Amino acid sequence: MIDVDINGTKEFITDVDLEMSVLKAKNAYQTLKEGTGLGSEWLGWRRILKSPNDAELDKIEQHGADIRNDADIFIVCGIGGSYQGARAIIDALQKPFSEKKPEIYFAGQHLGARYHEELLDYINRPKEDGSRKSVYLNVISKSGSTLETAIAFRMIRKWMHEVYGSEAKSRIIATTGAEGGVLNNIIEEEGYSKYVIPDDVGGRFSVLTPVGLLPVAVSGIDIKTLFYGAVAEFESREEDPGNILQYAGARHHLHEQNTELDVISSFEPELKEFCNWIQQLLGESEGKEGKGLFPAIASYSTDLHSIGQMIQQGRRNMMETMITVEKPISGLKLSPSDSKTDGLDYLAGRSIHSINKSARDGTFQAHVDGGVPVLKIGLEKLNEQQIGRLIYFYELLTGIYVYMLNVNPFNQPGVENYKKAMYKRLGK
Ligand code: PA5
Repeated sequence: MIDVDINGTKEFITDVDLEMSVLKAKNAYQTLKEGTGLGSEWLGWRRILKSPNDAELDKIEQHGADIRNDADIFIVCGIGGSYQGARAIIDALQKPFSEKKPEIYFAGQHLGARYHEELLDYINRPKEDGSRKSVYLNVISKSGSTLETAIAFRMIRKWMHEVYGSEAKSRIIATTGAEGGVLNNIIEEEGYSKYVIPDDVGGRFSVLTPVGLLPVAVSGIDIKTLFYGAVAEFESREEDPGNILQYAGARHHLHEQNTELDVISSFEPELKEFCNWIQQLLGESEGKEGKGLFPAIASYSTDLHSIGQMIQQGRRNMMETMITVEKPISGLKLSPSDSKTDGLDYLAGRSIHSINKSARDGTFQAHVDGGVPVLKIGLEKLNEQQIGRLIYFYELLTGIYVYMLNVNPFNQPGVENYKKAMYKRLGK
């Protein structure tokens, strides 16, 4: 199970208040489990772990390996829940400086003109030996009609049809809802291969469907271990939800005590995109009806030298959720040096991981002493299994916590408002 340590919140919540809040969390969990809450038609993220579809996992794994063998570049075209999960997993588990085959790029998650122009220019540029790059494209959109994604898709697929001709068909893979949406019309017209996003799984809860799994498989990460990590977390929490109720209870009580912000942080730079995924999952789920904690993110030590100041001494309206990794990701040590001038000899022989841990423990203490309740969420290691566990852990936390607010976690009515205003200006 993913570890939860609420000791850093103890001086901000009395035992009695925590107990009452945990009771609320228990009820919310029961509602979720029984499928009787708001938006209960969107609980497919639990269903897919209850009865895993091994045939689909095999198919995605094989397809990912085939693409990896042939591709120089793999482009994932999607926004929100249709790209963030894959990006988070790939960043967490791929070695930062390893030679990437294929290189993976994301498109369609904004309307940045230069970004997309340069992406097109880059894929068009021949390789060093003068040959053409082998490019694959995975367009992902559950609704099949999101403007940012559709624009990038139109531009990239036009390039692919011009360059590869009839072969483009086998290089473009579409992941979308079973039916409806413009994307399904395009698939039918062009004959692209298609993965279906189940009707009962919403965008930000879809990372363990083909939405996240195909790009992750292409990157070479072991999707079965990842998926079954999530299954293991699901099964143990079904038996006993355990410490997640403390987490939801403490977070909810703090929210009720006028905490406005939850800073989701980590001392592992590999987890920065994962924090972004949590931010999206929580933010789009809880920020409704004037309720919800604003999920901010911080990547340490980097951000200790920027918003760390604010966390330490700014307005006391925040809590922090620190995601920790216990076992070292690397054994790198600080070596002794002949010259003593850098003053670091007291650290000679220590692993960078243990120095990072001291920075983490020191920050934890300083933030708690400075009036910020801090929850710690612990991973044993950084690997497929643990990341799979963490994914389900956060999906479940989101479901429970948002039910405690009496809000539907699974819709995003506010997102429609910007779309309407944008389309009006665009003359749609
Ligand atoms: O969580 C959600 O539902 C959203 O973040 C969607 O994933 C996002 O808006 C993209 O939607 P679509 O996949 O329909 O293009």
